[in-house]
Amino acid sequence: MGRKTWFSIPEKNRPLQNRINIVLSRQLKAPPAGAHFVAADFAAALNLVDSELAERADQVWIIGGSSIYKEIMESQAPRRLIVTRVQKQFECDTFFPEIRPEQFRLLPESFRRRTAFPTSLRSTRASSSDGGLGGGIKMLIKSF
Ligand SMILES: NC(=O)c1ccc[n+]([C@@H]2O[C@H](COP(=O)([O-])OP(=O)(O)OC[C@H]3O[C@@H](n4cnc5c(N)ncnc54)[C@H](OP(=O)(O)O)[C@@H]3O)[C@@H](O)[C@H]2O)c1
Repeated sequence: MGRKTWFSIPEKNRPLQNRINIVLSRQLKAPPAGAHFVAADFAAALNLVDSELAERADQVWIIGGSSIYKEIMESQAPRRLIVTRVQKQFECDTFFPEIRPEQFRLLPESFRRRTAFPTSLRSTRASSSDGGLGGGIKMLIKSF
């Protein structure tokens, strides 16, 4: 996650549980208090996963913010987007980058049902208790 996303998480919820929290920052030389690692760029973060963390990490999740999503979505790396559409309007100052149809395709419903996300097709009401993140319709979108 980007440095700003890290600091946007309430302190009591940092680090995110049951996950190795890697913070991307070009400025920080050491992980912010509570974070497990800091990386100066994506390559350094992925190197960590392939070396020091190879025995402990089997999946990499990129959780934002906007600048991090944009960079990885514009890259040629194999990526899969897991998207939640929140069916409500909010005042926002940070936005998810445009999902360009020539770069990503919606996976067929049969595939989405087979994933580890049993709620992925369920449409739910946006809820203030989960910060609005859990509502809406979750979709899996894969790059070509
Ligand atoms: N609704 C959601 O699901 C969700 C998810 C995530 C975040 N958010 C929100 O998004 C906001 C933050 O997003 P944001 O786009 O403003 O900031 P961000 O991406 O979280 O953080 C930006 C910072 O990350 C570092 N960074 C970015 N790209 C990097 C790279 N390639 N290599 C190394 N470091 C890099 C830089 O830190 P330095 O300045 O230290 O170099 C940069 O200033 C917060 O309000 C957060 O709550 C929402």
